[in-house]
Amino acid sequence: MSSAVLDSLAAHRLVPVVVVDGADQGARLADALVTGGLPVAEITLRTAGGLDAIRAVAQTQSGVVVGAGTVTTAGQVDDVVAAGARYIVSPGLSEAVVRRAQEHGVPVLPGVATATEIMRALDLGVDVVKLFPASVVGGPAAIRALAAPFPGLRFVPTGGVSAQNLGEYLSLAPVVAVGGSWMVEKSLVTAGDWAEITRRTVEAVALAAP
Ligand code: 3PG
Repeated sequence: MSSAVLDSLAAHRLVPVVVVDGADQGARLADALVTGGLPVAEITLRTAGGLDAIRAVAQTQSGVVVGAGTVTTAGQVDDVVAAGARYIVSPGLSEAVVRRAQEHGVPVLPGVATATEIMRALDLGVDVVKLFPASVVGGPAAIRALAAPFPGLRFVPTGGVSAQNLGEYLSLAPVVAVGGSWMVEKSLVTAGDWAEITRRTVEAVALAAP
């Protein structure tokens, strides 16, 4: 997969995994990220208003590279692309999701946790995968081991990534970016603590700088 969107994720090296409910929360969250220096958001379909949040950010904040996360069906691919999502992330590898995203011409990062899943992803023409849940399947050591037989494959490890360990992941050549929810924790969104989200974002951006 080569695309301007992927280049942008690779340039920022951070993909905040966001749980927001509705257009207003989505817009405020995106503002908090942009203020912190990170115009990237993966807005998940884990709330009833996740899709509205994607649409709001795509329509009003064109400078934000907004993607959709927790996409598990081809129908959801259609919905999030119509809402303006510029990339698609899935916790696992669904052929239907990957193929539908490819039909739309939208980059897709399926989740993988094993060599077998990586081989299926490669068969589908995917060469950037989300390693999920990264910390549970072995962390940086798992990436070193899985990268060896698959040169050219790139990873976005997600799951258990934090300010404490992101540097370890990003120091690995096949890691294009890390994903995670630590800087946009759901409790901060619920509390409307946008300042703390911006503070954590500033900290993460500094730690991720090459
Ligand atoms: C995801 O789906 O990408 C995860 O929920 C992110 O994992 P984290 O909450 O451990 O960062």
